[in-house]
Amino acid sequence: MSFSLKNIISIKDFSKDDINFILKQTEKLEPVARSQEMSQNMAGKILGMMFYEPSTRTRLSFETSMKRLGGGVIGFAETGASSVTKGENLADTARMVAEYADALVIRHNLEGAARYVSDIVDVPIINAGDGAGQHPTQTLLDIYTMKRVFGKIKGLNVALIGDLKYGRTVHSLSYALGMFGAKMSFVSPPELKMPQETLHDLKGAKAVTRETDNIHDVLDEVDVLYVTRIQKERFPDPEEYSRIKGAYLINSELLNGKDLIVMHPLPRVDEISPDVDDTKYGKYFEQAFYGVPVRMAILNALIKSF
Ligand code: CP
Repeated sequence: MSFSLKNIISIKDFSKDDINFILKQTEKLEPVARSQEMSQNMAGKILGMMFYEPSTRTRLSFETSMKRLGGGVIGFAETGASSVTKGENLADTARMVAEYADALVIRHNLEGAARYVSDIVDVPIINAGDGAGQHPTQTLLDIYTMKRVFGKIKGLNVALIGDLKYGRTVHSLSYALGMFGAKMSFVSPPELKMPQETLHDLKGAKAVTRETDNIHDVLDEVDVLYVTRIQKERFPDPEEYSRIKGAYLINSELLNGKDLIVMHPLPRVDEISPDVDDTKYGKYFEQAFYGVPVRMAILNALIKSF
């Protein structure tokens, strides 16, 4: 098993072998992520972080991953602390950070930003979310979580719920689930359906999918409820957001007696009640932890150690 990619931009660039490679390495790195074992595999290496949009999990888990592997981290968590505020463009900023680092992690509000940067710099680029486009490292930790819980992906019944139009996590995840033979239900308000392009691609890949706006259509048959936030920041019309927000509420009463797990890329707003957190259903905090070993595996795969 080997890893073929130089950059991590879209889950569509991955082969099954690439994903399986990362999952296998992740398993081996869990003790390092939990601080039960040490690694110096990234000693002397620097990871550059360019965050044009806010982040808690992705940024901090990348930083933790690099540091637990003995490497260092530079960069900015918001553009206000960088020369972007003086008018420096994305290309120049990326070129500069690439001069100082062995790989770049970039989150940007514009779809395609990470691909653009990968075309102009030589160091590996990792897409940490590009607008409503893709979030491939999130998908790898989502898939890892499902495999950890169920031991497989093939044949799982997964419902993706909420903002399927703007949600980059569900765009990426649907491709990976389709690749590994999971069945998918897309549950959303009519205004926030999965984009036609994604549906078309999934059909071409012979993925089994269906669409509904009613969560009760899926509750008795799914293994995973993958819940997402309605993304206020991506709505062109604030009134439309106000009308749609709160479309789904997952609480312990709704889940009572069901045989499933609840996942969420986080942050949540009010779509999952806190009364789910400590039940057997709530897997989202564990899922977020797996961001560390998954991103360690990614760093080891992309950055050549000495
Ligand atoms: N899941 C995720 O991308 O979270 P952050 O926005 O906090 O990085």
